[in-house]
Amino acid sequence: MKRILVTGGLGQMGSELVPELRRRYGAENVIASDLRMPPAGADASEGPFEFIDCTRQSQVRAAVQRHRIDTVFHLAALLSAVAEEKPHMAWDVNMGGLYRVLEVARESGCAVFFPSSIGSFGPNTPKESTPQDALQRPTTMYGVTKASGELLCDYYYNRFGVDTRGVRFPGLISHIAPPGGGTTDYAVEIFYAAIRHGHYSSFLGPETRLDMMYMPDALRAVIGIMEADPGRLVHRNSFNVTAMDVTPEELAEEIRRHVPGFTISYKIDPVRQAIADSWPDSIDDSAARAEWDWMPTFDLESLTADMIDKLRSKLGA
Ligand code: NAD
Ligand code: SER
Repeated sequence: MKRILVTGGLGQMGSELVPELRRRYGAENVIASDLRMPPAGADASEGPFEFIDCTRQSQVRAAVQRHRIDTVFHLAALLSAVAEEKPHMAWDVNMGGLYRVLEVARESGCAVFFPSSIGSFGPNTPKESTPQDALQRPTTMYGVTKASGELLCDYYYNRFGVDTRGVRFPGLISHIAPPGGGTTDYAVEIFYAAIRHGHYSSFLGPETRLDMMYMPDALRAVIGIMEADPGRLVHRNSFNVTAMDVTPEELAEEIRRHVPGFTISYKIDPVRQAIADSWPDSIDDSAARAEWDWMPTFDLESLTADMIDKLRSKLGA
């Protein structure tokens, strides 16, 4: 990786992946892009930025050629809850965007990182310790685009030799940029609410178990798979990766150790609850551990302590 383009670079993950890539590979070698413009007051000296709608192949191609890009981190997508509200747009952005990025990669010889999700699984997938190679019949538009995206990436590797790689992320917990409208957003909102109000009203029920990961580990996963020795990769795309599985009740209990008196109540959103219920309770990431030495560093305890610490500074609490 010498010249990098990140699509959807202003989102929850991109806001932290872009600076991390710039630290590693040089600010001038990492081009951030998004459909949105950077917020007013953003420091342009941090590195180059391009306005790119990933569904417009000409815009993706022009940026790849102008900046002599060799690796695209394709983050742009609609997340699960938004995708369920706007399924047609989700198909256009998630599938149309990926297809166009892969086409430009094929023309230009770029490698592509594609983040899939636990959302690529469905209600008839084994619910606990979901294996790497499991039945995938998702019932959400988000899941349909992620499962199809995994297959499309495999196809571009096998048919055209495009160096596609990816992971299936669980819910990502972070304190820099807000989440973009997913089913796991509660696991970020709960921290802000705990510090600001000492109370959180959860849109998922108390026993809803889902995999989660702290953003520093997610960044390590992205860079780890892209730097992995290709000779060791059996799966290449869509590796299960996880750090913990947790329910809202358990997360609240852990937060209470840092915010005494913190309370949680439940006002369940039937749409997001149904999405969460269709996903695994826990996934097995042993293939990623075996093929490219994946290993998370944060568990529930250390994640919670660090989130609370960082958010207290950020919110001046
Ligand atoms: P996000 O919603 O925070 O950010 C997505 C970004 O894509 C936004 O900045 C948005 O403006 C941009 N975008 C939307 N449409 C676009 C278009 N047509 N062209 C260019 N940019 C466009 O999402 P995120 O949390 O940063 O997720 C990044 C990727 O990781 C997504 O593919 C998501 O599905 C995947 N993922 C995220 C999580 C998570 O918990 N955050 C979990 C699993 C997988
Ligand atoms: N966090 C994501 C979502 O809930 C999972 O892919 O949409």
